[in-house]
Amino acid sequence: AQNAKESLYIVSQFAAAFFVKQLWETDEGRGIGLSYFKERGFREDILKKFEVGYSPDVWDAMTQNAINSGHKLEFLEQTGLSIKNDNGKIYDRFRGRVMFPIHNFTGRVIGFGGRTLKTDKNVPKYVNSPESEIYHKSNVLYGLFHAKKAIRDLDNCYLAEGYADVLSVHQAGIENVVASSGTSLTVEQIKLIGRFTQNVTILFDGDAAGIKASLRGLDMILEEGLNVKIVSFPDGHDPDSYMHHVGAGAFKTYLENNRKDFILYKANVLLKDAGDDPIKRAGIIRDIVESIAKIPDQIKASVFIRECSSLLEIEEKILLSELNKMRSAKS
Ligand code: UTP
Ligand code: MN
Ligand code: MN
Ligand code: MN
Ligand code: MN
Repeated sequence: AQNAKESLYIVSQFAAAFFVKQLWETDEGRGIGLSYFKERGFREDILKKFEVGYSPDVWDAMTQNAINSGHKLEFLEQTGLSIKNDNGKIYDRFRGRVMFPIHNFTGRVIGFGGRTLKTDKNVPKYVNSPESEIYHKSNVLYGLFHAKKAIRDLDNCYLAEGYADVLSVHQAGIENVVASSGTSLTVEQIKLIGRFTQNVTILFDGDAAGIKASLRGLDMILEEGLNVKIVSFPDGHDPDSYMHHVGAGAFKTYLENNRKDFILYKANVLLKDAGDDPIKRAGIIRDIVESIAKIPDQIKASVFIRECSSLLEIEEKILLSELNKMRSAKS
């Protein structure tokens, strides 16, 4: 099995190199793929660092190239790079897309995300590699290989949603960033971050889906005993679009000045809908205490109870008794 796995790593690396070559050295790649990245404002050094590429818009260019170089179809199929249709015809999973290779944290290529260049709503924006012997989505964080040193050194991990977000945050000079890419955040991914730091700062998209994912994510992170802060972005921006919108310097300052702890974040998000309605406000307080109840460390939890008490002007005693009720209900 070890040999079979090794073969999957090897064909994945071959494909990554093929896509890189297509992007930089072919007319189609340069004319369509590279110019797409340039239009989005990505610098060449960032594109090279993350080994992004381009998959030609033909039926089986990658597969044929791999076979001609002596790679076995069997392994190409097992990574999902090549697909056999019902008629037995082989084709490439990724065609006419810009390619983001996904590395494991030792730096080996284990899968890909491919972004369409079409604006057609019927075409999926991203196609991702399927699960394979070497790619288990729920255990992988996009960008971790390039971020892990900075995460340790800075003792914080920025967590974004997407491939482009990771590249753009890097381009702003911030290297401690990863993305959950292609799956909603998992416990395994949080544990993986926990090997490098206890501090996570969520940078999800400033749209309804991103807010929902932030609320879910912060509870999961608290439950794993890590500390969590949240930066939200205005007007539906995500970290990528916002970085290019305001520029690298202003983006860095924005992250530093807009980092909220989860109490303040939840209060902001939830109070927006509640207005002055006292019943709704009570519901929000309960909701925040529910998040505090997820924190395994009692001392930390009591610090947040105090903050919640002063922020929402509720007696600490009452919050503590709610907290204890929730804790005993859980155990
Ligand atoms: P988004 O829809 O926010 O895309 O999805 P994005 O990252 O901002 O992409 P750009 O900027 O338009 O290029 C966030 C992430 O969710 C996954 C991808 O990992 C994406 O980066 N996703 C999204 C998919 O896997 N498939 C999809 O069709 C869409
Ligand atoms: Mn590599
Ligand atoms: Mn989104
Ligand atoms: Mn996005
Ligand atoms: Mn985006």
